Amino acid sequence: ANYEFLKVSTPRAGVGLIEIHRPKALNALFTPLIAELNACLKAFDRDPSVGAIVLTGSHKAFAAGADIKEMSTKSFADAYGTDFIESWSELPNTFKKPVISAVNGHALGGGCELAMMGDILYCSKTANFGQPEIKLGVIPGAGGSQRLTRAIGKAKAMDLILTGDNFSGEKAYEWGLAAKVFDTPDECVDGALATAEKIAGYSRIAVKAAKEVVNKSQDLGIREGVEYERRVFHSLFGSEDQKIGMKAFAEKKKAEWVHR
Ligand code: HXC
Repeated sequence: ANYEFLKVSTPRAGVGLIEIHRPKALNALFTPLIAELNACLKAFDRDPSVGAIVLTGSHKAFAAGADIKEMSTKSFADAYGTDFIESWSELPNTFKKPVISAVNGHALGGGCELAMMGDILYCSKTANFGQPEIKLGVIPGAGGSQRLTRAIGKAKAMDLILTGDNFSGEKAYEWGLAAKVFDTPDECVDGALATAEKIAGYSRIAVKAAKEVVNKSQDLGIREGVEYERRVFHSLFGSEDQKIGMKAFAEKKKAEWVHR
């Protein structure tokens, strides 16, 4: 498929790479771009040759937010009536394959929220995160108040969301929002691609189940969460890959997964 606002490739075995490409507006996010992103993710999710996805922007901007010019004249009826922003939530809720956000440059407002929708977040020291909506007379609208708070705790999230202050890639790593921080943008994207390739090399069934149970931890209490995990764990004994993986260990061989 041809996209206007995305560059899409498969640079490594089993890995889909999506680069947000709207350079004139620092990758500001708007409805047509989100529609392309959802379509592209859906295509990768269905593509058996892809096991994991990397989502990135440019060196300058992952995404500088929702498009302020597009939003500026909306009425309440426009926003509520069209469920403005709802389609953005397809990313964490709909797609089953792991998505790694590789964040360089600005990741502000909706850009920060989009990065946090990824299953793993990597960034470089050039990253500039923030939820500056308060400065525009609004609040985060694509999960920022919820995901940032769960990731870094209420004290820091409240401080950041009420002040609109930005924070660096190094802080994102120190606070546990980012799993890794790299010195340069190229290293960040390469690191994300290497992780995606590693994940794509495992049993697809096991990867899907692992993502599902970790995400459940965000919705369930500890007891229900542990029980949920155990049920899914039990179910994997019905997969061929469980037999293949454990037999390969015993025979000191490399597992050749069949669930692709
Ligand atoms: C529309 C944007 C934009 C945005 C940048 N641009 N961010 N257009 N919406 N969010 C456009 C600029 O208007 C400009 O276009 C071009 O991109 C380059 O930006 P500059 O400002 O000239 O670049 P620079 O001086 O380097 O400053 C970079 C920046 C600044 C610090 C990131 O652009 C900025 O503050 N942007 C807004 C960040 C923000 O507030 N994001 C949150 C949005 S609210 P022209 O045509 O003038 O050259 C939000 C709500 C989410 O995301 C709610 C639910 C999703």
